[in-house]
Amino acid sequence: NREPLVLGIETSCDETGVGIVRGSTLLANVISSSMEEHARYGGVVPEVAARAHLEAIVPAISAAIAEAGIRLDEVDAIAVTSGPGLSGALMVGVGAAKALSVALGVPLYAVNHLVGHVGADVLREDDSEIELPTIALLVSGGHTSLLLVRDLVSDVELLGETIDDAAGEAFDKVARLLGLPYPGGPHIDRVAADGDPTAIRFPRGLTQPKDLDRHRYDFSFSGLKTAVARWVEQKQDAGEQVPLGDVAASFREAVVDVLLTKAIAACRDHGIPRLLLGGGVVANARVRELAAERTAAAGIELRIPPLSLCTDNGAMIAALGAQLIMAGHAPSGLDFGADSTLPV
Ligand code: KG4
Ligand code: ZN
Repeated sequence: NREPLVLGIETSCDETGVGIVRGSTLLANVISSSMEEHARYGGVVPEVAARAHLEAIVPAISAAIAEAGIRLDEVDAIAVTSGPGLSGALMVGVGAAKALSVALGVPLYAVNHLVGHVGADVLREDDSEIELPTIALLVSGGHTSLLLVRDLVSDVELLGETIDDAAGEAFDKVARLLGLPYPGGPHIDRVAADGDPTAIRFPRGLTQPKDLDRHRYDFSFSGLKTAVARWVEQKQDAGEQVPLGDVAASFREAVVDVLLTKAIAACRDHGIPRLLLGGGVVANARVRELAAERTAAAGIELRIPPLSLCTDNGAMIAALGAQLIMAGHAPSGLDFGADSTLPV
């Protein structure tokens, strides 16, 4: 009764990810990103991402097999992200996964990308097991979601999500208006290090009492982006210099404050003293710092998987596939497609 050897494919956004796990042990995690091709557009262009996946997918599979030191015909099952994400991008991964499943005669598991982010936690090297239920906060360029995870493979509830821009997208857009390169998150982080986070009080979206009935766990960042743009314009119109560090630090503080206020409210409301973070924005220095501070103050256990597993990758999809198999779930068959709005 050995643990299943699973190959996972992730193509929901701009990362072509192929990972291989045995049960909850990571064997390979190959990522090919088309980020640079999107840089001059200031955001991910769906058509460009899909074409890049098509070029990268077969080499990524070969590289993962080599990295894991296995033969393709040893694989017990294939797992693939079927949504949510960019349609054309998802289709490349789903097509490749179906082809592999048929060619190898092994079962195929369709996996939800957001749940995959949570599943990444089982691959931690310290072997500590994730305690359930947990609240999970997933923040990237494509999503900002709060989940209540009671069971990794069968009971994940979406508590809230962004109603406009994703948090990472807000970082990218504000970076752009400050003249910083794409992707903006790391640059905002760098510039913010020299700034005063209390210099400018930018709005905290959906945190007013009137918003909390309908949007207690939802996020909104487009108003913040507009507020930053207006503030910068006013300075420029007045012929004053824009204090980049203060703007970046104050903007970052507004995003991070809202993310953690809502995540901790979810933990409190549901009586769950555990918070898991995932997604590329977790690379943000202030996110990690404030998460540590606020969870400690609230008596909440904080889990942050290694960053290479927080950003989009195939290993987390493989890991979730392995969890599905070990929990006795039936494979998905071939009768599913890419679903850009797949619910959790
Ligand atoms: O998870 P990810 O690699 O890809 C997806 O978007 O799915 O996340 C990328 C996003 C980008 O929007 C990028 O600006 C943001 O994560 N990001 C950051 C930081 N590093 C990456 N945001 C804030 N601070 C950072 N240090
Ligand atoms: Zn993601």
